[in-house]
Amino acid sequence: MSLELNHIPVMSEEIDNILAPYKSGLYIDCTFGGGGVTRRILSKKNTKIISIDRDNFVDSFSKEISKEYNNRFEFIVDKFSNLQNILKERNLQKIPVAIIFDLGLSSFQIDDPERGFSYRQDGLLKMTMGKNNISAHDIVNKLDQKDLKNIFNLFGEDKDSALIAKLIIQKRQDKQISSTHELAEIILRAKRYKNNKYNKIDSCAKIFQSIIMIVNQELT
Ligand SMILES: C[S@@+](CC[C@H](N)C(=O)[O-])C[C@H]1O[C@@H](n2cnc3c(N)ncnc32)[C@H](O)[C@@H]1O
Repeated sequence: MSLELNHIPVMSEEIDNILAPYKSGLYIDCTFGGGGVTRRILSKKNTKIISIDRDNFVDSFSKEISKEYNNRFEFIVDKFSNLQNILKERNLQKIPVAIIFDLGLSSFQIDDPERGFSYRQDGLLKMTMGKNNISAHDIVNKLDQKDLKNIFNLFGEDKDSALIAKLIIQKRQDKQISSTHELAEIILRAKRYKNNKYNKIDSCAKIFQSIIMIVNQELT
């Protein structure tokens, strides 16, 4: 993975609009990612930032920023659901100017086949953002048909959820489902069987999204 340390965050303009005019003081970036938002804030005078990400792969980005802004920047690998404890431990004397959440996956996560998030590239079924107890492999290979159907239905809103769940269970009788492409092939088989007009990208994206939400406990 190449380190695009100066990559521009997708939301940079929105961040500027929301925070303008920038006030001096402490900011919290709850979703550090490639560090684009953090850098944007640090580029303004007299700002400090505590940045959090559950993914320890992004630690390398944080090290670069540390070199430049050592005394104004702290990086913590944790989930932002632990924010209250993180702030308590630091015994802050002032209320932060802003707490920022740029939710979702970063391109660094999606584009790396070894992370197993994407149906576009073949990789082991992982989909873990960091600090996880389970992986996509567990979901796809251990849950029963009813639970799979409910996950696809509820979080993927896919009308063929029942058939996709059924085909997964059938496949598991032969062998475990190990890769993103194996899972994508099952999803598309269900779509072809139903003879529905379907969009390959949307169909896989919805089911993958539902699994990512469970693996990473995104709602909780
Ligand atoms: C869309 S990216 C953020 C991109 C970032 N703003 C930038 O400018 O590069 C979302 C990041 O949030 C992280 N993340 C998602 N859920 C999290 C959670 N519950 N706690 C901490 N980090 C989380 C992901 O690991 C990912 O790196």
